[in-house]
Amino acid sequence: MIKPDAVSNGHTGAILDDIIKGGFNIVALKYIRLTEDTAGQFYAVHSERPFYKDLVSFMSSGPIVAAILEKDNAVEDFRKLIGATDPSKADVGTIRNKYANSIEANAVHGSDSDENAQIEGSFFFTAFERF
Ligand code: CMP
Repeated sequence: MIKPDAVSNGHTGAILDDIIKGGFNIVALKYIRLTEDTAGQFYAVHSERPFYKDLVSFMSSGPIVAAILEKDNAVEDFRKLIGATDPSKADVGTIRNKYANSIEANAVHGSDSDENAQIEGSFFFTAFERF
């Protein structure tokens, strides 16, 4: 997912370019805006964390781009491509190093396991929207 900060700052094209150049196939792509309700559902796993309320508010503050990406070793390789959750700790050249502003407005989200990638992909896309 490309988060509202990166979309509103005009980084969508550059981020998709980095993803494609990183060897990922885009299997599905969608430009939408989450509501507080849908953002809350997406991040339900963090509902007990102190940052949850702010995160839900931020994630519903503007449009996002959701994508399903395919690659061998995709979860680990995508996490390398985007860098650490906190952009101040992200390696130089990573997407968060280049485009993120803060730990909350950190430009992109990537699934942390194959299992969660399935769950998160199904959150945004029906079977007929994938190819
Ligand atoms: P993401 O990979 O989308 O998963 C959960 C998000 O919570 C994370 O990226 C951050 O944008 C956000 N977040 C806000 N504050 C924190 C924090 N202190 N630790 C971890 N994640 C945080």
